[in-house]
Amino acid sequence: MDSEQTVPGDALTPIINSGSLSQAAYGVDDEVIISAIKVNKYFGDKHVLKDVDFEVRKREVVALIGPSGSGKSTLIRCLNGLEKHTSGEIYIHGQRLDPRFSVKQLSPIRRELGMVFQNFNLFPHMTVLQNVIEAPLLVRKMPKDQAVALGEKLLAKVGLEEKRDVYPNKLSGGQKQRVAIARALAMQPRARDLAYEGSTMVVVTHEMQFARDVSDRVVFISDGVIVEQGDPEEIFKQPRHERTKLFLERVLSTLP
Ligand SMILES: Nc1ncnc2c1ncn2[C@@H]1O[C@H](COP(=O)(O)OP(=O)(O)OP(=O)(O)O)[C@@H](O)[C@H]1O
Ligand SMILES: [Mg+2]
Repeated sequence: MDSEQTVPGDALTPIINSGSLSQAAYGVDDEVIISAIKVNKYFGDKHVLKDVDFEVRKREVVALIGPSGSGKSTLIRCLNGLEKHTSGEIYIHGQRLDPRFSVKQLSPIRRELGMVFQNFNLFPHMTVLQNVIEAPLLVRKMPKDQAVALGEKLLAKVGLEEKRDVYPNKLSGGQKQRVAIARALAMQPRARDLAYEGSTMVVVTHEMQFARDVSDRVVFISDGVIVEQGDPEEIFKQPRHERTKLFLERVLSTLP
């Protein structure tokens, strides 16, 4: 397993009473949290990200989709400072992410972001619910019954109510990701008004239904290029680009 993981973020603040993670429920803010400008990434002479322009606004949930090897993880890893971009500019909360930064310099920037990756670290010895309520219980000292109620609400939100007492090794990759999202949402930062804060999140997913359900915006990336992005419903119903169309036809036709 590589070093991809769920990074707890101060920007993660869900509205726990809303039934949906959608833009309508949260209200995406105008404030730009992540901004990538003409970002390129090479591994040796392999050109993996090609002039990528990418923005994420406050409280936005963005789903990155695209074929295997298209650069989704690399993009997220660059945004999070886990990988050094070769050229271009990345700003997190307006702060320039310099590829030369040390881990120590990066950590306050990374804390700002809630990013859920394809691979993340769920505790194998804890049930789904226990994974979700770990942080509220230990970090936020939330009373147990309150944490359980919050955990159940968040599991319902990501469609995993019935997996509450199951261990992670019994879950599919996509289900694990949903647990990771619920867990990220459970880490509410202190001293903020829950009713008006949402979470800012970039999710890499191979589950199209999931992308459609939880995201405010879908970004389709192919061969290191953002080919198309926009409203999930529109992208899935009416992709504008041939490559998007082909990709969606392929993945949707292989669904059980
Ligand atoms: N550390 C590395 N060194 C060399 N090449 C790499 C490295 N990491 C990724 N690559 C290459 O960069 C390309 C993009 O990889 P990346 O992991 O970003 O794809 P992805 O879209 O996340 O794919 P998947 O859907 O399979 O997870 C691939 O061709 C991959 O082989
Ligand atoms: Mg990947």
